[in-house]
Amino acid sequence: MKNTTSKQNTERMALASVSTPDLGIDSGECLAPQQSEPCIIVIMGATGDLTVRKLIPALFNLYLNGGLPESFQIVGCGRTEMASVDFRNKMEAALKAADMLEPAKWQVFAAALHYQIIDYENPESYTGLAESLRNLDRENNTRGNRIFYIALPPTLYKTVAQMIGRAGMSAEMTEGNGWSRIVVEKPFGTNLETAVDLDRSLHEYFKERQIFRIDHYLAKETVQNVLMFRFANALFEPIWNRRYVDHIVITATETLGVEHRAGYYEHSGVLRDMFQNHMMQLLALTAMEPPSRFEDELVRDEKTKVFRALRPFPVKYLQDYLVLGQYAAGSINGTAVPAYRDEPDVDPNSITPTFAMMKVYLDNWRWQGVPFYMTSGKRLNKKRTEIAIQFKTVPYAMFRHVLGERILANRLTMGIHPEEKITLSFQTKNPGARVCLRTVTMDFHYDQNYTGPTLDAYEKVLIDCMLGDQMLFWRQDSVERCWSFLTKLLEKNNRQE
Ligand code: BG6
Repeated sequence: MKNTTSKQNTERMALASVSTPDLGIDSGECLAPQQSEPCIIVIMGATGDLTVRKLIPALFNLYLNGGLPESFQIVGCGRTEMASVDFRNKMEAALKAADMLEPAKWQVFAAALHYQIIDYENPESYTGLAESLRNLDRENNTRGNRIFYIALPPTLYKTVAQMIGRAGMSAEMTEGNGWSRIVVEKPFGTNLETAVDLDRSLHEYFKERQIFRIDHYLAKETVQNVLMFRFANALFEPIWNRRYVDHIVITATETLGVEHRAGYYEHSGVLRDMFQNHMMQLLALTAMEPPSRFEDELVRDEKTKVFRALRPFPVKYLQDYLVLGQYAAGSINGTAVPAYRDEPDVDPNSITPTFAMMKVYLDNWRWQGVPFYMTSGKRLNKKRTEIAIQFKTVPYAMFRHVLGERILANRLTMGIHPEEKITLSFQTKNPGARVCLRTVTMDFHYDQNYTGPTLDAYEKVLIDCMLGDQMLFWRQDSVERCWSFLTKLLEKNNRQE
């Protein structure tokens, strides 16, 4: 009995030391680099879906894991008249329904939760808000530090940013003010022109380092891991180029349809909804050069260089580079689902694309001639987000006389969701007297040997914003590059409409 236990222990220890050498890092220590400064988080659009489903759960979880500053307050603003106590009750009920409530801890957290009615277009509303925030500062020592999270429809971004500025709440380090940051969700405009216009409005009162443009894909652990995998291992980077890579496939397919978002999606379609942002970020992380230091501006410089290298689509031969589609009626996992045109609030003659596959090239030294195939669509058979690096075949087939010409090339797949794993496929000999090959894989599951806490994408976004770290947020020059790249496609699609 004793022997067995000790053998089991030895095996377990061997496994642990081979897979995760002990470097003295406690997984909990990786959650946040440091405690952020005291602040007030103001959520514009506090009665909306994003607040209930994502922001409050993320803030509550951060609170439970010690990710919020020692002193913090949360002010929800909305048009609906509501007392703070009702707002707290509503949020509590939502957390409970999502099975995320810890009643004892909630009471303390809820005491920092307030609600303030606001008329988004009325300057007086904002002076009232500024006054309330100053009072909260005095009572809670939040030191005049503010995050304004704009969880509102994009049509309100400009107005709200300007009103916050006019009420003096974007100014930093003036009397009573500490730092001030504004967080905006995508879409950052609907084309190059509107993106530039939105940016101009944001910059009227906020400086670039105060503006946080969210892309929730960047906050996914597995997306962040792309850079670690590439640049913390000596093995892969030397072959990560046109000499060894045949092509790259970036996929983000969904089983979900348009749901209740037809009002937005009809004007956006898959190109604006997925390509202008998430797909472009996946492309940049896969293709970028290593920055000299892992710092927000340097990383974002390298990404912008990738976007600059995008070869414009040859409009004349667009059919060779782009496939657009729209989902028809069908069934997913045995359940009948309607066609896009039959979804609520969708025009029955709509030609909004819900699917796109494109081939893009980067005109630079590393990637010349390597096609990147990017695919995204709704109501497809599987939810799958991944980046696959397809390597070239071996230069010479020495087994030709027994196996023929065909030897499958290596493939490295970085699974982002739902399979959070990295898989490398390679050839081995099949056991037996005959010479046969079989393709096998080496798999790394992201949660392998990890039992510590993890951060949801919104928790990560909020922590970084509190710390003022812009690494995982879009910079305006990249936004504009991506819009100008897609403009020709969007114009062509509009002309067809
Ligand atoms: C959003 C899009 O940005 O990303 C949605 O607006 C899409 O249409 C979603 O469904 C996909 O995100 P995820 O994290 O589920 O891949």
